[in-house]
Amino acid sequence: MTDLMRACLVSEFGGPEVLQFGEAPRPYIANSDTLVRVKAAGVNPIDVKTRSGKGVSRFVDRFPWIPGNEFAGIVEEAPYELAPFQPGDEVFGMLLTPHYQGSFAEYVSVPFMSLAKKPKSMSWAQAGATPLAALTAWAGVVDAARVHTGQRMLIHAGAGGVGHFAVQLAHFYGAYVIATASERNLEFLRELGADEVIDYRNRRFEEAITEPVDVVLDLIGNVAANTGSRSLQVLRDGGLIINVPTGSWPEMHEEVAATNRSLQASTLKLSPEGRILTTIAQLADQGDLRCHLDATLPLEELAQAHELIADGHVRGKIAVEIG
Ligand SMILES: NC(=O)c1ccc[n+]([C@@H]2O[C@H](COP(=O)([O-])OP(=O)(O)OC[C@H]3O[C@@H](n4cnc5c(N)ncnc54)[C@H](OP(=O)(O)O)[C@@H]3O)[C@@H](O)[C@H]2O)c1
Repeated sequence: MTDLMRACLVSEFGGPEVLQFGEAPRPYIANSDTLVRVKAAGVNPIDVKTRSGKGVSRFVDRFPWIPGNEFAGIVEEAPYELAPFQPGDEVFGMLLTPHYQGSFAEYVSVPFMSLAKKPKSMSWAQAGATPLAALTAWAGVVDAARVHTGQRMLIHAGAGGVGHFAVQLAHFYGAYVIATASERNLEFLRELGADEVIDYRNRRFEEAITEPVDVVLDLIGNVAANTGSRSLQVLRDGGLIINVPTGSWPEMHEEVAATNRSLQASTLKLSPEGRILTTIAQLADQGDLRCHLDATLPLEELAQAHELIADGHVRGKIAVEIG
C-alpha cells in the first residue's frame, strides 16, 4: 500500500479557490488512534469560517493543512488486537478540533473513543455528514437544556445542519418544539417533529409565540435581525438561552444580566464522543433521527459546498464523497 493519499490541501487562508487537491502523507496512528479509510465527509460552517481565516484558523499551525472534521468510513488499522473497532468495521466519527490532518482526505487517524458503528440505515454520505451537527444538537438539547416531556423549546434555524437534528432530538425526548425557518422549509420542520413553525421573514417570532418558552437554542445570534437579543423576550423567568455560533453575540451575558430577570445563559462547545454517536446511530436505525442531505458532491467540488454554506440557506447537510 502506498504511503501517500489524495486530500484537500490548503496552503493559505482565503476564498474557496484555496481548496486545492493533491497528495499528502497518510496519517500514522499513535496510542488509541484508529486509521479509517474515509468514504464520505460532511461540510460545516466552521470549515468555511476557518478556510477564510476566521473560525479556528488561529490553531492551524502549518500548511498545507487538510480541513474537515467529520467522516464515515471503513477501519483500515486498529491500535491493538482487541480494540473496539477492527479492520473492516464500518464507522462514523469526528475529530477533535483543531487538528492538522482532517477528513477531506482518503484516510484519517482518530482516537477510537471518537468513533461509533455507522448506522445501518444511513448511506455513507448521510453518516459522514452527521457527527458534528448531531453532537452539537445533542450538547444543546440533551446536555445543556436537559430536554424532557412538556419542556417548551424554541429552536432558531431549525432547518439547518444543527437545527434539523435538534428539532428531531427535542421532539423525540418529548419537548414541545417551536422552530424558525423561511417559508420553503416550514413543511420540512413539521415533518421533523416541530409542533409550531414560524417563518422568520414574515413574522416576528416574539409576536408569534404567545406562551413563554423554557429554552431557546439560538443558532443565529445577533448576526441576523438581532435574533439573540430578541429571544430573551420569549423566555419564561428561570428560562435558559443557549447561543451556539461562537462570536455571533458576544454581549449575551451582559444583556441577560441587564434584564434583571432570573434567566440563564450559556454558550456551547461540542465534544467528539463516540458513546453519544452510538446513541445517535441507534436513534437513526430505529427511525427516530435522520440526516437530510441538501447535496452530495465529489471531494473535488468541495468549493461548491463552501459557497452553498456561506450563502446561509442549506437545508440539513452537505456531504462530499471520497474514494
Ligand atoms: N459552538 C459550536 O461548537 C458549534 C457547533 C456547530 C455549529 N456551530 C455554529 O452554529 C451555526 C449553525 O450551524 P449549522 O451547521 O446549523 O448552520 P447551517 O446549516 O449553515 O444553517 C443554515 C440554516 O440557517 C437557516 N437560517 C438562516 N438565517 C436564518 C434566520 N435569520 N432565522 C432562522 N433561520 C435562519 C436557514 O434556513 P432558511 O433557508 O429557511 O432561511 C438554513 O436552513 C453556525 O454559525 C455554526 O458555525 C457552532
